[in-house]
Amino acid sequence: MYPQLLIDLGKLNKNLKVVSELAREGDCSLMIVTKSFCADGPIVAEILKNEAVDYLADSRIQNIASYADQAHIAGKETVLLRLPMASEVEEVVRYADLSLNSEIETIRMLDRAAAQQNKTHKVLLMIDLGDLREGMFFRDEEAIMAVCDEILKMRHVRLFGIGTNLTCYGAIIPKEDNLGQLVRLSERIQKRFSTTLTMVSGGNSSSVYLIPKKQLPTGINNLRLGEAFILGNETAYSKRIPGTHNDAILLRAQIIECKDKPSLPIGEVGVDAFGEVPHYEDKGVITRAILAVGKQDTNPDGLTPLDPAVEILGGSSDHLLVNTADSHYHLGDVMDFRMDYGALLKLFTSPYVTRTYR
Ligand SMILES: Cc1ncc(COP(=O)(O)O)c(C=O)c1O
Repeated sequence: MYPQLLIDLGKLNKNLKVVSELAREGDCSLMIVTKSFCADGPIVAEILKNEAVDYLADSRIQNIASYADQAHIAGKETVLLRLPMASEVEEVVRYADLSLNSEIETIRMLDRAAAQQNKTHKVLLMIDLGDLREGMFFRDEEAIMAVCDEILKMRHVRLFGIGTNLTCYGAIIPKEDNLGQLVRLSERIQKRFSTTLTMVSGGNSSSVYLIPKKQLPTGINNLRLGEAFILGNETAYSKRIPGTHNDAILLRAQIIECKDKPSLPIGEVGVDAFGEVPHYEDKGVITRAILAVGKQDTNPDGLTPLDPAVEILGGSSDHLLVNTADSHYHLGDVMDFRMDYGALLKLFTSPYVTRTYR
């Protein structure tokens, strides 16, 4: 049944090998982020088999709950990436060994939940180095120290380390200077409280480019990688990571109409189904195919047809429209597409998209 995701576990294993070698070269432990593929079972099973992976992380506690037991049996720890909601602290303590935090109120709730479950929960205190998403603002050092002081006095929460997230909201690129500030802050915290911070987590797939350049500051000892693994992309400058595959996952969709029609719609142009004013190029009569996958399942703009002759014209909630150009397609034929991160995220989230593995 289509639309279908074709998942090549061999290619994903190759990507895992490449990113784990990069992490090792950067003296970093490796956290693989499972959210973009909604913690898909067979993909998670491959990650769990890999000895170079130390942690599995996700932003949704439901995904972590789905693999926490298996991860622990495989000797990996589980991590909640998104700051916990007050309404989920019990589940966070139950299924995640570590969570990323920036609010002392939440950390107090985690401490109480951990006490009730007779557990110790690890906390990575997030520091905002200027990207302006989550984290205590790096310039508020006294506030950071006060929070560390309080966490260090808690009985059921352990201050495991500090971390940062860049290139997510503010598109700030990780560099030696901003990540260096994180390392120096970790040193000041350790000195001030005579404690050891086990983890200094230096970001996501946008930090990977620093490793071959030998610019990842010494002291950064963890990376949290999603897109680098699943698509083989470094995300600071949107480059491919040598040796990885970006077609480990393909979308296959089926043609439900294939007809010669003009390239320009006829009549007064209003707004499309999503309230946008469309723009068209007049190419005369073209062969237009409609595939049964739409914006409810993916972002048409994030798809690239494997057939270079095929051009994506656009989509609506349930339809993807393409110009088949010189290629010959018929009703019922299927077409394959590579996808970017946003398209992939939606395809895995859509319950209407099936999955096959090889
Ligand atoms: C806090 C955090 N760390 C790491 C990641 C992984 O990002 P990427 O897929 O760019 O490696 C994400 C997003 O998924 C995130 O929110």
